[in-house]
Amino acid sequence: MSRGAKTAELERLSAERGQSQAELTTSSSQESGFAHVTVLRDAVTQAVVAAAAGADDALVVDCTLGGGGHAEAILQALPGARVIGLDRDESAIAAASARLSAFGPRFRAVHTPFGRLAEVLRELGQPDATAIIADLGVSSHQFDTAERGFSLRHEGPLDMRMDRSTGLTLAERLAAISLEELADVLYAYGDIRRSIGTARIVLQSVQEGADTTAKLAQRLAARLPRDRNVHPATLVFQALRIWVNGELDELEALLRDAPGLLQEGGVLAVISFHSGEDRLVKQAMRAQAPKKYGEFMRGKPQAAGDEEVRDNPRARSARLRLLWRSRRGEPLDGPDEDEDS
Ligand SMILES: C[S@@+](CC[C@H](N)C(=O)[O-])C[C@H]1O[C@@H](n2cnc3c(N)ncnc32)[C@H](O)[C@@H]1O
Repeated sequence: MSRGAKTAELERLSAERGQSQAELTTSSSQESGFAHVTVLRDAVTQAVVAAAAGADDALVVDCTLGGGGHAEAILQALPGARVIGLDRDESAIAAASARLSAFGPRFRAVHTPFGRLAEVLRELGQPDATAIIADLGVSSHQFDTAERGFSLRHEGPLDMRMDRSTGLTLAERLAAISLEELADVLYAYGDIRRSIGTARIVLQSVQEGADTTAKLAQRLAARLPRDRNVHPATLVFQALRIWVNGELDELEALLRDAPGLLQEGGVLAVISFHSGEDRLVKQAMRAQAPKKYGEFMRGKPQAAGDEEVRDNPRARSARLRLLWRSRRGEPLDGPDEDEDS
């Protein structure tokens, strides 16, 4: 069977299994008290199954374990595979470890930021991986847990750290930053044009006693221009979260190291949720696979379908990009430039 036919067959099998597991995946993460609906689960699983190409010893690294939704789908679709799951949030590590305990030694969780991917694989004695996946940002569980301080709807502390065992909280950072530095943060991570004015409102609000996320969001809403569909503080909160967690530095480290850690035929799959992330992913993948044929190939970017978006609005802004490493002597055929928006 040719590589293409084998891939299509594996994708078909995986999609069949995936469909019957869709409800299970949602409910099992909710039963564990960790509510998060996995985005583009079937597309990621199909790519990983194709990378494994029938081998029964695939090693998959899930860099953003979260509730374990992608990891579970992969462990089910590839009965011989092992998954190493990384997350910088201890509550995600605990929830996913409970959910995936039935897979025994096939699953292993590591509490660490994915910027340390290369180091972690070295420490575990793994030279490379069949697939490396990352589903960026925060989980619905993190957003919806008020005391984590991510949500503008809940009365939570100004924290926003994904890893509460280390680093400075949002409140601590805001107490130490200058107006100009905060404006740079808002411009770089939230695309906020009137960044000096917005930074001034943020700092004044905190100085005047806005010591919770809901209070800060209310003050911002009272003073920022209104958009009918989106809360006026949404982009400010996004920028603050990216800053507190050094998210783009982490992503750059992952994109720098992951291609060199892929086995032949392996795949890097990254789901991003806003333009700043997606730009970095696109640029890094283009740099690895500059031509249509070569050692690395870019897949066409994928978005969630209407049905998935209807069931899970969070999927609306998701964009999946794939980078494949060719097998020996088998140059890959990538998309034309105009296919790769
Ligand atoms: C969108 S959720 C992943 C959901 C998961 N794919 C699922 O299906 O359940 C993102 C997770 O990645 C984690 N995360 C984000 N940035 C990280 C980083 N730099 N290193 C490790 N984990 C990170 C977050 O703590 C969160 O649990």
